[in-house]
Amino acid sequence: MANGWKKSDWRAKPRVQMPDYPDAAALNAVEKTLSQMPPLVFAGEARQLRHELAKAARGEAFLLQGGDCAESFTEFGADNIRDTFKVMLQMAIVLTWGAKVPVIKVGRMAGQFAKPRSSGMETVDGVELPSYRGDIINGFDFTPDARIPDPNRMLQAYTQAAASLNLLRAFSTGGYADIHSVHGWIASFTDEEKATKYRVLADRISEAMDFMAAAGVTSDTAHELKTVDFYTSHEALLLEYEEALSRTDTTTGLPVAGSGHMIWIGDRTRQPDGAHVEFARGVQNPIGLKCGPSTTAEDLKVLMAKLNPANEAGRLTLIARFGAGKVAEHLPRLIQAVKEEGANVVWSCDPMHGNTIKSASGFKTRPFDAVLQEVKEFFAVHKAEGTIPGGVHFEMTGKDVTECTGGLRAVSDGDLSSRYHTACDPRLNASQSLELAFLVAEELQDRRQLQRAQAVI
Ligand code: PEP
Ligand code: CO
Repeated sequence: MANGWKKSDWRAKPRVQMPDYPDAAALNAVEKTLSQMPPLVFAGEARQLRHELAKAARGEAFLLQGGDCAESFTEFGADNIRDTFKVMLQMAIVLTWGAKVPVIKVGRMAGQFAKPRSSGMETVDGVELPSYRGDIINGFDFTPDARIPDPNRMLQAYTQAAASLNLLRAFSTGGYADIHSVHGWIASFTDEEKATKYRVLADRISEAMDFMAAAGVTSDTAHELKTVDFYTSHEALLLEYEEALSRTDTTTGLPVAGSGHMIWIGDRTRQPDGAHVEFARGVQNPIGLKCGPSTTAEDLKVLMAKLNPANEAGRLTLIARFGAGKVAEHLPRLIQAVKEEGANVVWSCDPMHGNTIKSASGFKTRPFDAVLQEVKEFFAVHKAEGTIPGGVHFEMTGKDVTECTGGLRAVSDGDLSSRYHTACDPRLNASQSLELAFLVAEELQDRRQLQRAQAVI
């Protein structure tokens, strides 16, 4: 990691997408309080995730990252956490089947609060107010008061993240994640009439489990079948919060972000000389970097050198988010830049953020077909380039919301108003998420055949 780096160095760099807090004394008090709190995650866990991601970079594991666009204070509750966790486990089993390698499960959870916005102001019925920037910064209500950035919100976000992580840790090891229950949930999904096309794959997973049980491998004999490793991640956007929760790892003496296992830099805050890159380069957590249509090969080279100077596999995940129909135009030049540098990266696909549209009914939505199309293009480009598609990044929830259109239980434009709960971008619902996992599993089977063929040669 960067020598001589200090956690406050970002303050001297140009910053974008961050609030100006009107009450400096209140901000200082909150930063002080947070800096005395225990970190949410420990350095050893972040290192373990980096180690897992190094496998994904080599095609020996696959990354599944998913969760809310923005966690919110009002939607917070055990049911929401459980349902998202549950659907991610189901997706992971389906993906494991397709890839035949372990799936690394990383939630956009327990810290995913701060949002970059395309416009600093929002206008409704002729009234203009500062944009909502996530519950950790200001309020969703369209009133002048709610939109004032309030540093005390950081304390509530910290408490919510701690409680979320506590429950996730309990679910991961307390029996809820037993592979047999997860498999039962998948089977009931494919029993539905419309999902029968996925039954063949689900049946094959059942057969494999029956075989294991017959051979004496059950959750009683194999601890791995009863527990999972589940990691957390969020966009490191609000740097006052990140700095206050960063700590020095007592084992290595290196700085670590204590706010989550993995943090990422958004497409709007990846300026090579900006504050966000400056903060991320100094902590030893795995770092994600969103790459959009405006990411140039030159910028990417500078960013890779800054964020991963030792070229460690697992340190850097490039999250491609171009939009359906645009992957072939943009991804090859970035892959070329990575090849030229000989850089070790995980390539992940975010098929959400390039596919947001406004529906006829006025809701921000994403068509399921466009999401799927972008994933397919991502796999196709990697196949053509001989590189490794290492993961996927989704905005999703375990609830039956109507935010993205399409899917098996087709959500129409007209349905959007019925259960549109997101605090920011539209998420895949439980059924759409699982369906997508089945479709990605098919792509992964293809990847595996290719890897096998290469091993034979
Ligand atoms: C996000 O992941 O919620 C996000 C804002 O993404 P991006 O930076 O890629 O637009
Ligand atoms: Co989003």
